[in-house]
Amino acid sequence: MLELRNIVKTFRQGRESLRAVDDVSLTIGAGRILGLVGESGCGKSTLSRIIMQLLPPDAGRVRLGEVELTALPRRDVRRHCLDFQMVFQDPYASLNPRFTVFSTLAEALRRRHPQLKGSELHDRVAAWLETVGLPPRHMRRYPHEFSGGQRQRIAIARALAPEPRVVIADEPVSALDVSIQSQILNLLGRLQAELGLTMLFISHDLAVVRHVSDTIAVMHRGRIVEQGGAEQVFTDPRDPYTRQLLDAVPVLPRVPIR
Ligand SMILES: Nc1ncnc2c1ncn2[C@@H]1O[C@H](COP(=O)(O)OP(=O)(O)O)[C@@H](O)[C@H]1O
Ligand SMILES: [Mg+2]
Repeated sequence: MLELRNIVKTFRQGRESLRAVDDVSLTIGAGRILGLVGESGCGKSTLSRIIMQLLPPDAGRVRLGEVELTALPRRDVRRHCLDFQMVFQDPYASLNPRFTVFSTLAEALRRRHPQLKGSELHDRVAAWLETVGLPPRHMRRYPHEFSGGQRQRIAIARALAPEPRVVIADEPVSALDVSIQSQILNLLGRLQAELGLTMLFISHDLAVVRHVSDTIAVMHRGRIVEQGGAEQVFTDPRDPYTRQLLDAVPVLPRVPIR
């Protein structure tokens, strides 16, 4: 579904230049979750912005299904924006505080189906709230009336409502209490399976990535140093940097979440 080939991105930082993404190639099959893990500053979010078409790469190709996005003129790329949706780390910052949940989700739904209105729109918003485990009767509330975990549920509904082909979750549980993290991971895992979502799941935390991913890519200083099946990377890492990351992970039994 999504293929990245030899992506390069260099930033100028004063007189220095920093290769934030250094020859990255990744493939995510339809309906699969790729976990991208690496410490803060290794280039994960830069890569996600390139995939989202928010930042042009210096070199390399991005292909969505049969379409080579990097070969399209700018205005044609915009037609594919709906196909990518993101869930961000901080649901406090990513939801507009002046919009009710209804407005936020109605806007997301109408991006794909502009004709939706009235009771049909209302019912679709209610259905999304139920899907993410929130009471539909709360749809007229504002973000500040919800907890952090509830806000992340709203952000997930907003990302999925436009029926994206690829969802990028960039540190989606890192700002949440540990007790809430597993609820949100469970929700993402369940929705991924039910809706057959194709997902790039980004985290600095290998333990978190392991629970949701089919395959894992380990990023270090802009490069992918290891890629493989989630269990293989976790139990039999090939790269010294992956082993270092693993040593920082508390040893917990694997709990199936789906
Ligand atoms: N717009 C930018 N201009 C200059 N440097 C940037 C920019 N965006 C990111 N960087 C740098 O690129 C590196 C990778 O950042 P980022 O992709 O945010 O890492 P991560 O998401 O893995 O924490 C960091 O050193 C960061 O400071
Ligand atoms: Mg980041």
